[in-house]
Amino acid sequence: MASGQLSRSEALACLGCKHACHMMLYSATKSQLFGRIPIRHIVLMQMRFDGLLGFPGGFVNLQKETLETGLSRELWEELGVAIPISVEDHVVSCLAPALFSSTSSSCLITHLYVKRMEEEQILEVERAAASTAKDHGHEVLGMIRVPLYTIKGEGGLASFLSHSFIGNARSQLVESLLRFKLVTPDELKSALTHSMEINT
Ligand code: GTP
Ligand code: MN
Ligand code: MN
Ligand code: MN
Ligand code: MN
Ligand code: MN
Repeated sequence: MASGQLSRSEALACLGCKHACHMMLYSATKSQLFGRIPIRHIVLMQMRFDGLLGFPGGFVNLQKETLETGLSRELWEELGVAIPISVEDHVVSCLAPALFSSTSSSCLITHLYVKRMEEEQILEVERAAASTAKDHGHEVLGMIRVPLYTIKGEGGLASFLSHSFIGNARSQLVESLLRFKLVTPDELKSALTHSMEINT
């Protein structure tokens, strides 16, 4: 495993740490951009209240809930849909550097879950998140789809990756796109190279 990465059980053994769980929801799609560029997969992220991009989810209180029931509660608040989550949906846990706070020296462990859905279920999530979800317009400014294609060399995924992300959400996205084969290694390498040029 890469540095900072933990298994689920190693992570749960860190009793003094705060824990946060986030979810990458995705589906396959046959739809095309401009009727000719295959979109291939819909991957959901969100624009957070702080202007950063991240995945839906949040802090879990292990005194009161499990990682999975806590994530399910957060998804209900932020997306307005009940999504069943199992231990098998867990992909990776990561130890983040100590929080920069004068009152708290505790560390944060972030857990990423990934779930493949049907396209119709993704559409339902988008509808609920923009209407009935409790946190809509407050903690969550809107759900967004990640462009996985490239247009004109650096438009699409490269431009998307050049935005600002919360915590390690950007590397969670990049690693998951590879792990679940939503982009090829070559496409990803090209997008990462261009994304770094965009901000310089
Ligand atoms: P409150 O209800 O306001 O406490 O927010 P929340 O419970 O929804 O928590 P939030 O989603 O902000 O996540 C908690 C912490 O996890 C954040 O302060 C970030 O440090 C981190 N975080 C947030 N989103 C992501 C993400 O997508 N990936 C990773 N790795 N970390 C995240
Ligand atoms: Mn939340
Ligand atoms: Mn919360
Ligand atoms: Mn959240
Ligand atoms: Mn928060
Ligand atoms: Mn909240």
